[in-house]
Amino acid sequence: MKKQISPSIMCADFMNLKECVRDFEDNGIEYIHVDIMDGHFVSNYTLGTDFCKILKRETHIPIDLHLMVEEPEKKLDWFEFGEGDYVSVHYESTKHLQRALSQIKSRGAKAMVALNPATPIEVLEWVLPDIDAVLLMTVNPGFAGQKLVPQCLEKITALRRYLDERGYTQVEIEVDGNVSFENARKMSDAGADIFVAGTSSLFKAGVPMSESVKKMRESIN
Ligand code: DX5
Ligand code: ZN
Repeated sequence: MKKQISPSIMCADFMNLKECVRDFEDNGIEYIHVDIMDGHFVSNYTLGTDFCKILKRETHIPIDLHLMVEEPEKKLDWFEFGEGDYVSVHYESTKHLQRALSQIKSRGAKAMVALNPATPIEVLEWVLPDIDAVLLMTVNPGFAGQKLVPQCLEKITALRRYLDERGYTQVEIEVDGNVSFENARKMSDAGADIFVAGTSSLFKAGVPMSESVKKMRESIN
């Protein structure tokens, strides 16, 4: 499958977001990763519902909405998303995972399950028909700037094999957390398809976005 970049906009310069989005467009970025945190599922707050509305109006680039919130099935209606967008909900955040996934798909978006580093891939067994992608957290969620949990590289390979053995070869794998140029190469070799690029790659002060995107493309292809 095509290797795609999804920059984590929570890592951007919040004083220059419009310019950042133009940069994404100029560099053929495939998705914009929008981290939503509720202070319960993770001990942090980041972006919100109004930000998503404004972003959807500002650009044609699809969003990749990462919901780090408890009971996401009760909050999906708060967000603007639809055809072409990815929406991920954490397996660990709800008793009603299948309901949340079918709600996402009923609105025309692509459904993704996010798994924390310690969560086994086998939890996906009975929702495989409901997903378009799996988001493997390669750090513990909640904050940018953390270090890769090393065993997550092997988890990427194990997930690809798990999906392919069950005939779900079209299900994509997204990786999120410390996706540096060096780690991205290893993650790509392990089977990742979508790369959430944050502080360790695309958002480096003084480095033009075009240069970082070029380097990331070289790393993942
Ligand atoms: C962390 C978020 C990530 C984060 C990535 O919980 O899900 O998207 O912003 O940032 P880096 O690349 O710095 O790990
Ligand atoms: Zn994220």
